[in-house]
Amino acid sequence: MTELPVSPDPLVVDTPAPAPARRVDTHSHLLPGVDDGCKTVEESVACAKILVANGYSHAFCTPHIWHNNRGISRTSVPRLVKMLQAELDAAQVPLTLFPGGEMNLYLGVDKTPADEVVPLGLGTYMLVDMWVAELPPFFEGAVEWLQNLGLSVVLAHPERMRAIQDDPDLIDYIQSLGVYLQGNLQCFTDKPEALTRKCAEKFLLDGKYFILGSDTHNPETIDVRTGGLARVRELVGEETLDQLTVANPRKLVETFGTADARG
Ligand SMILES: [Fe+2]
Repeated sequence: MTELPVSPDPLVVDTPAPAPARRVDTHSHLLPGVDDGCKTVEESVACAKILVANGYSHAFCTPHIWHNNRGISRTSVPRLVKMLQAELDAAQVPLTLFPGGEMNLYLGVDKTPADEVVPLGLGTYMLVDMWVAELPPFFEGAVEWLQNLGLSVVLAHPERMRAIQDDPDLIDYIQSLGVYLQGNLQCFTDKPEALTRKCAEKFLLDGKYFILGSDTHNPETIDVRTGGLARVRELVGEETLDQLTVANPRKLVETFGTADARG
């Protein structure tokens, strides 16, 4: 007897399972009340929820280390990260936090006390930023100072630096010093004619970036930041997007996956 074909169950819909959250935000101002980032725990939790909704499972908290913003240190940041982690856990927001800092480079930065140099995950990568119209003579010395401390320097959002917008080839010189580059996701949603976006897209297509970060500051502006993920995907595809937001960020912490702020 011939078997009748089994009719498909109309209740079983063949849709792929959603991709697991696994992206790592390598630049955020999630810690409440310490810089120009989130002001309250509520804002921090709201931002964390949006990061999770965009596929993030981890985030480095990188408060500004400015010479006029003392108190950001290897002691204080892990303590603050632990407190915010407890809030996220209580709110059932599955985002694992790491400590870090974003150190502003200026003439005299090499006099910064050792305790105020806060690398990503307290490891060997130091996130730095600088706002200049021309690359100053002290830049090379500041990079060398950090490298002599055993740190790899990661320059945040080079596409936002006037000096680089005016002369994008400067990026090659900066890389020749051994500096890694972190692109800012927000720049990929700026107006197409904006220099930030033109530079960001050029550097992305040229393979200049090591990692991408959201540079999240508050719930009001986070959507334009996470929105950059789609444009990066459009430009270079899912594999490269994953390299810059999943694989490379995991190299920043030797014990990634086993050490976090709950420990
Ligand atoms: Fe930042």
